[in-house]
Parts: sequence; C-alpha cells; structure tokens
Amino acid sequence: MSLILGIETSCDETAAAVVQDGKKVLSNIISSQMEIHRAFGGVVPEVASRHHVQNITVVLEQALREAGVHPSQLSAVAVTQGPGLVGALLVGIAAAKALAFSWGLPLLAVNHMAGHIYANQLVAEMEFPLLALVVSGGHTELVWMPGHGEFVLLGQTRDDAAGEAYDKVARSLDLPYPGGPLMDRLAQQGQPRYDLPRAWLEEGSYDFSFSGLKTAVQQLRQKEGENLKLADLAASFQAAVVEVLVEKTARAAEEYGARQVLLAGGVAANRGLRSAMQERIGSMGLSLVIPPPHLCTDNAAMIAAYGHLLYTRGQFAAPDLNAVPGLSLS
Ligand code: KG4
Ligand code: ZN
Repeated sequence: MSLILGIETSCDETAAAVVQDGKKVLSNIISSQMEIHRAFGGVVPEVASRHHVQNITVVLEQALREAGVHPSQLSAVAVTQGPGLVGALLVGIAAAKALAFSWGLPLLAVNHMAGHIYANQLVAEMEFPLLALVVSGGHTELVWMPGHGEFVLLGQTRDDAAGEAYDKVARSLDLPYPGGPLMDRLAQQGQPRYDLPRAWLEEGSYDFSFSGLKTAVQQLRQKEGENLKLADLAASFQAAVVEVLVEKTARAAEEYGARQVLLAGGVAANRGLRSAMQERIGSMGLSLVIPPPHLCTDNAAMIAAYGHLLYTRGQFAAPDLNAVPGLSLS
C-alpha cells in the first residue's frame, strides 16, 4: 500500500493531492490562477511564482484534510520537477523538500508529461504496449510505451503545441485566455465550412506542425472581414487540428501494434478530439482511455499517480533536487 502526496506547480495551477496505490484519488485540490493571468492574455511567469507561494500551504493543508490523512500515514512526497516555468516549479519543489525532510519521507521527482500520461491510471488499467497522445499547452507528443515508465518519443510538434495553437488563434480573434476551452465551446455551435490546411508533413512522419494553420486563420479573417462567422471558424479550426491528431495517432497505433491508446494533457479535454478519437480508435477495435476533463488539465493527482511507480521502484530523488524547465520524457 502507498499513500502519496503529490504537488504540482509547473504553470498556473497550484495543486496538491493524495493518491492511494497510484490509482485511488483521496483528494485533488487545484487553485487556478487563470483569472489573474487573463488580464495579461497569457501566463506571466513572475506573477505565477508569486501566487504559488501564496497558495501552496493552503492547498497542501486542504489536500491532507480532505483525504483524511495524517502526515505520519504518508509513504512519500511526489513533486513536478519539469518541464515548466522555472520559478513556478521551484515553489513546489521547495515545499516538497521541506515536507519530505521534516516528515522523514522519501522525495519523488516526477516528469510533468509522465504525470499527464499516468492520469489515465486513475481511471483505467494500463495495457502495454500502448501509445499515448499528449496534447497540452506546451507539448504535443506521440509517445510509445512498451511498459511502465518506458517512454519512446515517436513524434512531436515542430512549432506550436496544440494547446498553444488554440490559445494563439483565440487571442488573435480577441477571445480571452485560455482560448482552448472557449474555441471548443464555439466549435460545437458552428459548421466546419471554411477550408483550412492540414499539416501532414513527410510521408510516415509522426511530427506535428500547427503554425501554418494559425497563419491560415489570419488570412481567412482578413479575406472574410465582417462576414466571418466565428463559430464556423472555430469549428473549421478544430476540425483541422483534430483530424491530424487522430489520424497520426491511429496510424502509429497500427504500425507499432498498440494494445491500448491513451489521451493526455489539457487539450484531451476537447470534446471534438474526444469524440473523433473514440470513433477512429474504437473502429480499430483497440482499447481507448481518456481521463475526465478535470484530470486532463494540470492537477497533482496525476503527479502522485506517477510518483507511485517511482516509489515502488525505490527511485527516490536526492535532497538537492532542482527544477529542470526543459525536462524531456525519454
Ligand atoms: O495540460 P495543461 O493543463 O497545461 C500544460 O501542461 O500546458 O494544458 C493547458 C492547455 C491550454 O492551452 C488550454 O487552452 C488547452 O490545454 N485546453 C483546451 C481545452 N481545455 C484546455 N484546448 C482545447 N479544447 C479544450 N476543451
Ligand atoms: Zn500540463
């Protein structure tokens, strides 16, 4: 049995959670700074760090209280080491180190992207070999997993991440930050009647590119002027993003012989992507897991879920653990 306290502060959510055996969520507290950053049209790193400092102890206390767990019952403290904003990461790491030291617990350093993937373990049994599509505000990655903790990068974005493309396009349309959820809602009300490009790249490539799509939206906006139908544009943009994500995932799953496909990251909350993926992967007869939206976006339960694996393997972090803003998966 393990009881892991997870801490996540890589971007604009201050989060703490208690998870049992890497599977059962006892508490999952998230304090979002979204409203604060909205005024700036995006996350301001210095502002994010300051709010993490203000919120972290409250969030930690609440996570333990809601789980009904006393620190003496905990097995370890897991914290996001990277990737993310360095100042933001350091707040979580400092808190994790202090708690691990004073409670005499092992410290676990978790890769944020691995955390996103292991959000799936909170809702289903992982079946290997599997393919994970991780789509967030900073990353778009197709990851092959032969077994637990083994990550092979098959492809990634060459420019903007999927979530970044959503946010930038929304911003160019004068919509508030973060644009992803808003574009998703608008897309449900429109028809994909505008023709936008799909970046397939070279034959057989599992890389992605979304910057051309961003430019095409600008050109369309200029061409259509007053006649532009925002909901139809959102639906067309979503169709272009989703088609490439789904098709490349399906092809990779087939080529590599995946038993299961997992979706992860903030953009996995997207309704268009969820339903298209269900249809396409379902028709291949493969198992598909998509966490509920609140486990797709940043949270600490996913950090504790991956922390459980590190704990069972005895892969503890040293007390001088430092943040790694550009930490990669493989
Ligand atoms: O994983 P996440 O919470 O944070 C990062 O690690 O980046 O992902 C945040 C990203 C943002 O770009 C946000 O706009 C996007 O996920 N997002 C969505 C939706 N919900 C969140 N994008 C499209 N449709 C959504 N429903
Ligand atoms: Zn994330």
